[in-house]
Amino acid sequence: MEKKDLLSIYDLSAKEIKTLLSKAFELKKKRKPLDVFRGKSLGIMLEKPSTRTMVSFAAAMVQLGGTPIFLNIEKMQRSRGESIHDTAIVLSRYLDALMIRAFKHSDVEEFAKYSTVPVINGLTDREHPCQILADVMTVMEFHKIITPSDLKKIKIVYIGDGNNISNSLLAIASVLGMNLTLIAPKEYLTGKELLNKSLEYISKSKAEIKVTSDINATENADVIYTDVWTSMGFESEEKKRKKLFTPYQVNSELLKKASSKCIVLHCLPAIRGEEITEDVMEKYENSIFAQAENRLHAQKAVLLHFIK
Ligand code: CP
Ligand code: NVA
Repeated sequence: MEKKDLLSIYDLSAKEIKTLLSKAFELKKKRKPLDVFRGKSLGIMLEKPSTRTMVSFAAAMVQLGGTPIFLNIEKMQRSRGESIHDTAIVLSRYLDALMIRAFKHSDVEEFAKYSTVPVINGLTDREHPCQILADVMTVMEFHKIITPSDLKKIKIVYIGDGNNISNSLLAIASVLGMNLTLIAPKEYLTGKELLNKSLEYISKSKAEIKVTSDINATENADVIYTDVWTSMGFESEEKKRKKLFTPYQVNSELLKKASSKCIVLHCLPAIRGEEITEDVMEKYENSIFAQAENRLHAQKAVLLHFIK
């Protein structure tokens, strides 16, 4: 059977996303180590720092009976210019899957092209698909949604930078048919290319997607989701971003317009006092830390689905 990669949420059909979510919930409920991956290994290759993605994937692999292998990029010949082509072919002969966090999405695509084992995107400048599976899990848990088809009833608002997180949110909302509002300053709104891509799915899924710079679009939100204003790799724009994003901070004032049962999500790491205030982080820590925990359960479901 041909190997399959998880580079983008669009690599998954609505049916596959539903299967992954249901598996993740099942694994969370059981909390029992399994012995399905004995003798199998997952390569973990990170070009940027990571806490949740690195550790949840490593722990997930261990809990499934397999072994994570941390690849130190600085010690690899890649750092001396060995090509992605050759690296991918060679790693495929040792490993059963490869999780990569990279700056350029196209680099992960190139790895996937030449790798003969599944490549999983652990975050690029374009998408963070594994994070978003855990996020949807968290929305379902906190709003007591039993079947993903009912997610439509929940108004999700993402406010802040139009980045990898909001791109993957847009993708999952479009595929599953969710109600999503993306709010960002004009310059940082989701780009045309990704909006057009989402349109291909919206006609079928009947998702309700709104993209705006108007902060009042948080009205009646059941979920408010934010992320850092300056993602990894964009540090040179930090000063400019701070100024532009200040009105988009998630604070108690902004939450007044939301529904009374609104939860707050943040993929973490957070910068308290910038995109989210300390008091909001504290008040909504249950949902935010459950979201981080759900990475483990979602990652286990992903590994079981992709490693054959
Ligand atoms: N949310 C997330 O991906 O966290 P890390 O950068 O710590 O992996
Ligand atoms: N958008 C953030 C997410 C970190 C998990 C970044 O790319 O830095």
